[in-house]
Amino acid sequence: MSDLAVEIKSRREELGLTVKEMADSIGLSKDGDKVLRFWESGNGRPDKVVFGKIMTFANKRPYARKITNPKFKFIDLFAGIGGIRIPFQEQGGQCVFTSEWDHFAQKTYQMNFGGEIFGDITEVDIDKDIPKFDILLGGFPCQPFSQAGLHKGFSDTRGTLFFNIEEIIEKKRPKAFLLENVKQLKGHDHGRTYKVIEEHLRNLNYTVTPAILRAGDFGVPQNRERLYIVGFDREEYDLPENYVFEFPEPPKTATRLGDILEENVDPKYTISEKLYEGHKRRKEEHKKRGNGFGFSLFNADSEYTNTLSARYYKDGSEILIDQGENMRPRKLTPRECARLQGFPEDFIIPVSDTRAYKQFGNSVAVPVIREIAKNMLRTMEELESSKNAGCTYQRATS
Ligand SMILES: C[S@@+](CC[C@H](N)C(=O)[O-])C[C@H]1O[C@@H](n2cnc3c(N)ncnc32)[C@H](O)[C@@H]1O
Repeated sequence: MSDLAVEIKSRREELGLTVKEMADSIGLSKDGDKVLRFWESGNGRPDKVVFGKIMTFANKRPYARKITNPKFKFIDLFAGIGGIRIPFQEQGGQCVFTSEWDHFAQKTYQMNFGGEIFGDITEVDIDKDIPKFDILLGGFPCQPFSQAGLHKGFSDTRGTLFFNIEEIIEKKRPKAFLLENVKQLKGHDHGRTYKVIEEHLRNLNYTVTPAILRAGDFGVPQNRERLYIVGFDREEYDLPENYVFEFPEPPKTATRLGDILEENVDPKYTISEKLYEGHKRRKEEHKKRGNGFGFSLFNADSEYTNTLSARYYKDGSEILIDQGENMRPRKLTPRECARLQGFPEDFIIPVSDTRAYKQFGNSVAVPVIREIAKNMLRTMEELESSKNAGCTYQRATS
């Protein structure tokens, strides 16, 4: 085997990537895994540019931070790929505990942030495993409450994961928390599910403020609405029960899909004839039944897309990019999905395209979290100074 073949293979193995993951990560075309395998066995060789991409891929973790004097400490629960973590880190926070049980999400998280990742949160020994922290972050699983799921709520075991969050808050008494979920959680079971959640948090003596915010109002071209719940420890800050957190005002700057689209997209993202025919047939059937369901086409001039979901990899029907009359539409690339969620350009995507679609669909619009994080930190500083000045909470509440 040639030295080059050995170098390629050992680089990939060093990163813990499969051939498919490496091929997709460095942007090889369809059947790129076969080509890479070929190179690794000493048959043929990549050109200089591609070889360079292989050897430099993920050579540093862009979001690994060890701050000597962190402004605050936080924990990242149901962490996914760390979309909620990035903005809190930007605010000067140090992540002291992460929980995520999905092997592939862990891979993406590890490559970007490093550090240890705890698996199943239901197995955690709160006193032993979780160090002291100030802010709890958790975008807990939404399938039990979502439109796409079966709306089972607390009767689905995934729905009860909220109670694990509750137990951690009760035992560790953080100063604040931020929870994120689908907006349907608010209306699930005629509002009863949300009411239980709010009551439980209030019973722990925390303030609770919910808000539904739309990603498109925070600068990314996506019509994603999510429920955010922010709470502060009433005892810590001497807050009245009716205290209301001020969520950020959406800047509502104009958005345009063209701003996040890649140039020269590989033909592997163009959907197959069979899939396209199926999409068209289903759309026609829906039309006959008098409803507007079916695949949606967007182009560079579109203001925003539909919500990117974790099921995007299946058929891409919610967001297809028009490539003109003579070409079938294409799916978004994983990098475009990252941009649609406002992830920074240097965020590493070390998994297959299918996994990447799932991970970004499950994640959050980072710019929305960024503005919430700023407001939370500002509020905590204000509350802290009133406390130090010996004042009780003075601002107007509603
Ligand atoms: C809605 S996603 C959150 C995504 C995250 N906010 C992000 O930015 O990527 C929920 C995550 O919870 C994880 N999860 C579900 N049950 C879990 C459990 N029992 N322990 C740890 N993680 C779990 C899932 O694998 C999924 O990644």
